[in-house]
Amino acid sequence: MKIAMIGSGYVGLVSGACFADFGHTVVCIDKAEAKIEALKRGEIPIFEPGLDALVAENVKAGRLSFTTELKGPVSEADVVFIAVGTPSRRGDGHADLSYVYAAAREIAGAVRGFTVVVTKSTVPVGTGDEVERIMREARPEADIAVVSNPEFLREGAAISDFKRPDRIVVGIEDERAREAMTEVYRPLYLNQSPLLFTTRRTSELIKYAANAFLAMKITFINEIADLCEKVGADVQQISRGIGLDGRIGAKFLHAGPGYGGSCFPKDTLALVKTAQDNDSPMRLIETTIAINDTRKRAMARKVVAALGGEVRGKKIAVLGLTFKPETDDMRDAPSISIIQALQDGGARIFAYDPEGMAASKAMLSDVAYGASPYDIAEGAEALVIVTEWNQFRALDFQRLKACMAKPVLVDLRNVYKPEEVARHGFAYSSIGRGTCAMVAPVSEAAQ
Ligand SMILES: NC(=O)c1ccc[n+]([C@@H]2O[C@H](COP(=O)([O-])OP(=O)(O)OC[C@H]3O[C@@H](n4cnc5c(N)ncnc54)[C@H](O)[C@@H]3O)[C@@H](O)[C@H]2O)c1
Repeated sequence: MKIAMIGSGYVGLVSGACFADFGHTVVCIDKAEAKIEALKRGEIPIFEPGLDALVAENVKAGRLSFTTELKGPVSEADVVFIAVGTPSRRGDGHADLSYVYAAAREIAGAVRGFTVVVTKSTVPVGTGDEVERIMREARPEADIAVVSNPEFLREGAAISDFKRPDRIVVGIEDERAREAMTEVYRPLYLNQSPLLFTTRRTSELIKYAANAFLAMKITFINEIADLCEKVGADVQQISRGIGLDGRIGAKFLHAGPGYGGSCFPKDTLALVKTAQDNDSPMRLIETTIAINDTRKRAMARKVVAALGGEVRGKKIAVLGLTFKPETDDMRDAPSISIIQALQDGGARIFAYDPEGMAASKAMLSDVAYGASPYDIAEGAEALVIVTEWNQFRALDFQRLKACMAKPVLVDLRNVYKPEEVARHGFAYSSIGRGTCAMVAPVSEAAQ
């Protein structure tokens, strides 16, 4: 199949490279010239494990190329994917569909022969109808089928998610699209990944329902964690105790500083707006959003408490900035609110992240960056783990203790065992481990 991928960001680039790897011929298109120039030079503009090798192999094999010009590749394509951004619209939280509609207009001007136009971007229910209307208005004679095919990949594990998906959801209104989409995904289909055909509207809503449910699940365990701290219970054991129940499942039950990232915050908000517009409010999700929003600053208060109630003038070292490990994505990362709240309290923030510092510099002000955890820990009164990168899982506590002003660790991801940290003489604060949420250091004599 000949595929044109409009938008070469996290989703477009990964999907394009994977489709090329399946054997299709793919052109990835983006308006951002710097991005396309970098890709042409063999540089990957984002951090995603394994993507550099996958792109290089498929470019070399002649199946993957990059351009800023939409017209040529779209006119030759059997299938055109729209994978542009759908951020929250400023002011009201609806999904901003201007990029999707602009792409639809441009595609309409370029298609030749029967073409399947697929929305891979996360879009509110009914967007496919509007994309089709726009295209038919612009080119009444164009022979198109507009399809919904939401993407479920996770940043940081995007390639394996794309190649071994739990399911592929395809929403169609024109039967001719079924054959083309089956062909596009044939290698996965052969691997028995379920290919679920639905109507277009159902497919669009499946994506929002999935993200809203996962956001709700995280928020649920975060509230249980808060209760654990009050009543002296351990949230990690509760996660295990309920996660082993097949009806609940163990995933997305890790208590932490609240969900962030480029999807959950904007998608939950957009779903709530759609639901309100349709006079069918989703109170569970409205509440999920409210709880999560307040949680991030509450995490800053946890840090303040660990420092004895006052952070003014104190140096705080923050480990991890991205919304999760193995990505450079800083969009809506909890670190942003936590750092800003600590700065509001007068703290001086020093931060380190393996991949997120470049993006962070554009989003946060008055933060000093270091080259390693030990670099930023020098003279700090507390070390705060915000993102659980693997390299933070085996910190050298003796080295940290020797260079920090005070041995205080606030672990917002429950990376460590409280007893272990206390053994090294640190005061330790974590999430939802009631009996040990704030563990005093073990005295030298007791060690
Ligand atoms: N990032 C994820 O983990 C993820 C997962 C599933 C679904 N999604 C959804 O996929 C969509 C894309 O997300 P992303 O994270 O890849 O966004 P992104 O911001 O990384 O990439 C979008 C790209 O589209 C380009 N673009 C915008 N308008 C264009 C146009 N008219 N022509 C060509 N290029 C254009 C932008 O320059 C940008 O490079 C969103 O709807 C998102 O909700 C994202």
